[in-house]
Amino acid sequence: MNEESDRKVVRGLKDVAAAETRISYVDPKGYLYYLGYNIDDLVGRVTYTEVAYLLIHKRLPNRQELDEFCTDLVSEMKLPNAMVRCIWDTPGHVHPMDVLRTEVSRLGEYDVEKNDLSEAANLRRATRLIAQVPTIVATLHRSRIGQPVPVPRKDFGFAENFLYMFKGHPPKEDEADVLHRLLILHADHGFNASTFAARVTASTNADMYSAVTTAIGTLRGPLHGGASEKVMDMLNDIGLEKYVDEYIQGLLDEKMKIMGFGHRVYMAEDPRTKHLRGIVENLCHHKRTLDLYNKCIKIEGIVHERKNIYPNLDFYAAVAMDAMGVPKEFFTPFFTSSRIAGWVAHTIEQYEDAVLLRPSSKYVGEFGRTFVPIEER
Ligand code: CMC
Repeated sequence: MNEESDRKVVRGLKDVAAAETRISYVDPKGYLYYLGYNIDDLVGRVTYTEVAYLLIHKRLPNRQELDEFCTDLVSEMKLPNAMVRCIWDTPGHVHPMDVLRTEVSRLGEYDVEKNDLSEAANLRRATRLIAQVPTIVATLHRSRIGQPVPVPRKDFGFAENFLYMFKGHPPKEDEADVLHRLLILHADHGFNASTFAARVTASTNADMYSAVTTAIGTLRGPLHGGASEKVMDMLNDIGLEKYVDEYIQGLLDEKMKIMGFGHRVYMAEDPRTKHLRGIVENLCHHKRTLDLYNKCIKIEGIVHERKNIYPNLDFYAAVAMDAMGVPKEFFTPFFTSSRIAGWVAHTIEQYEDAVLLRPSSKYVGEFGRTFVPIEER
């Protein structure tokens, strides 16, 4: 018998603290902190660029530091021409998250200081990744509609440039405000699955591009960041608001998961939900958004009443992104364009911790099987 067979398995690693972190705290009582700041004090009061700075530098910037960081980000947004060509050549049926995973991996090939693993080089690399992931997303979207990506403008902020490149026209003030809020709310979230995956990769001292590529593959799944796309599928599937009850009850009867609901950590409502619900409420002057919002409110009531669970980040985020003109297959890439800040911050923290993340397992297979050569099987 193997010693590992006596080990207790913590299924899904629930409640297991795999490392210490100073970056964010997911409070089960329904609060979220970035470097000690309650997100409720940040949303609507700071830009996404300030939050990205906070995550990687572990403090808020002063005006000059913010201006310099924003200039650095905007000047790093340009992709190598060969990469732009690769993105344009991607077949139209390939999911944007697959393209993003491949292209972020490819970015590593262009890192001229790849072997420099100093803290300063890692911060430069983190800044480049925060800048270039949104450009990959925007370039792919523009290529899918056969339009070139506008060159980022020095007179626009970083998030404004992302929207400008994605949509092809200068963003209106209210659009930019919504984008900042969305990006801030998606920027980090403790040891969620993709962040943990990034940290496992970083714990082997692999490079930051490998860590982020791992994270993108993990975020893609519908139980994690891929949920927002599934939320929109569900809202479309339901059809008219009057069918909500029947549809949701049907899923519950089948013991199916309602996408955009439930959370591993929160015992109360996800603190990001109220902000996203508010964003969507403010966008309800569009009829499509109003219809989707009304369905969401109804679903929320039914699911809470019958399963006692709350909507998570992805539920109203799906409708907010839809209202901003983001096609549903780009919802998770949009999420990635913000979460990249959290991933690189955690990757750097993991390098500092300098310990290999390598759990054990409980072996439940056989022992002592008699080997049979292939000719005799
Ligand atoms: N719909 C219906 N029932 C649910 C749901 C849901 N969305 N989520 C949890 N439950 C029920 C589940 O059936 C179980 O009930 P019972 O104890 O009666 O069997 C109980 O709640 C516990 O669920 P669990 O799946 O064991 O909980 P978990 O901590 O392993 O899963 C989760 C967390 C987020 C994977 C899960 O809630 C889920 O699958 N939600 C739908 C997908 C989703 O919205 N994902 C986004 C997560 S948050 C943002 C992000 O990280 O991207």
